Amino acid sequence: MNESLTLTDAASQTPAAPAKAAKAHLPDAQIVTSVKHWTDRLFSFRVTRPQSLRFRSGEFVMIGLMGDNGKPLLRAYSIASPNWDEALEFYSIKVPDGPLTSKLQHIKVGDEIILRPKPVGTLVHDALLPGKRIWFLATGTGIAPFASLMRDPETYEKYDQVIMMHTCRTADELEYGRQLVENLKADELIGEMVEGKLLYYPTTTREETPHMGRITDNLTSGKVFQDLDLPRMNQAEDRAMVCGSLAFNVDVKAVLESFGLREGANSGPLEYVVEKAFVGEGI
Ligand code: FAD
Ligand code: A2P
Repeated sequence: MNESLTLTDAASQTPAAPAKAAKAHLPDAQIVTSVKHWTDRLFSFRVTRPQSLRFRSGEFVMIGLMGDNGKPLLRAYSIASPNWDEALEFYSIKVPDGPLTSKLQHIKVGDEIILRPKPVGTLVHDALLPGKRIWFLATGTGIAPFASLMRDPETYEKYDQVIMMHTCRTADELEYGRQLVENLKADELIGEMVEGKLLYYPTTTREETPHMGRITDNLTSGKVFQDLDLPRMNQAEDRAMVCGSLAFNVDVKAVLESFGLREGANSGPLEYVVEKAFVGEGI
């Protein structure tokens, strides 16, 4: 662990350590190594990874900045990078008056963020029974945990086919996921593993594009099965992970249950798992 990054509360410094106190960093600080803005509402960034941090692809951690009151302002964020990556990637919304993201959206390379190294979450392979196909169902920033899982070789070892359905209002909001899939297929190491196995099904709902419609509608109408030449989703072969707004999660759960899938958890693996992409009604 890099000592200069783990230095904590300046107030706890003893008078004997004035030099350290002068260089005090944020608690659990990590350094921003890259930032990319995708739209005026979306950006992604990478930070250094604490050497001791182990996580399962699909999990989330608490990250944030120091608030004006001198206390850490933290929010849950899915780790978008896979568990083998030397850095940590995050994919973020910019909420105009959001306490955290109104500031976080201005981070630059070299800045510090706070990262509590305690990964948790339900969107992990351990929470599902073995199956033939895995469906990743996401809206908006809900693609973040799947950005991790899509880049994890374990996903392709466990399943014959991996279907990434991502829906946003407009095409520009799909771009992070689209480029990720494109780069993954061209990747020297994992590209071969992914080839023919990863089926990407992006749709928009409020802008005309080649593929349109809500995930729920494309599942219930059977359109996605037709388009991808797959059998109807069923309990014996299909597994699913869901990440979107509360309303989306509720509606997708009903669709999955209609196909006979049951909700699992870390403690009791079954056929699908769900996690909120955010708390609240959306912006
Ligand atoms: P907040 O006060 O937290 O939110 C204000 C309002 O903005 C919310 O009530 C909601 O209506 C809306 N909102 C918040 N987040 C989103 C979002 N992601 N998409 C659409 N509307 C939103 N956010 C990410 O951007 N990327 C992630 O990977 C991510 N992972 C999460 C994982 C979990 C388990 C949970 C519970 C939340 C996650 N979030 C993620 C949401 C995140 O924790 C914050 O809510 C978000 O960063 C905004 O913080 P804020 O302080 O600016 O506004
Ligand atoms: P729609 O445009 O038809 O509302 P948002 O930007 O509001 O978070 O939505 C992101 C995407 O998720 C949009 O394409 C939206 O479609 C879709 N969506 C929102 N709510 C649901 C839901 N309950 N079921 C299925 N899709 C949803």
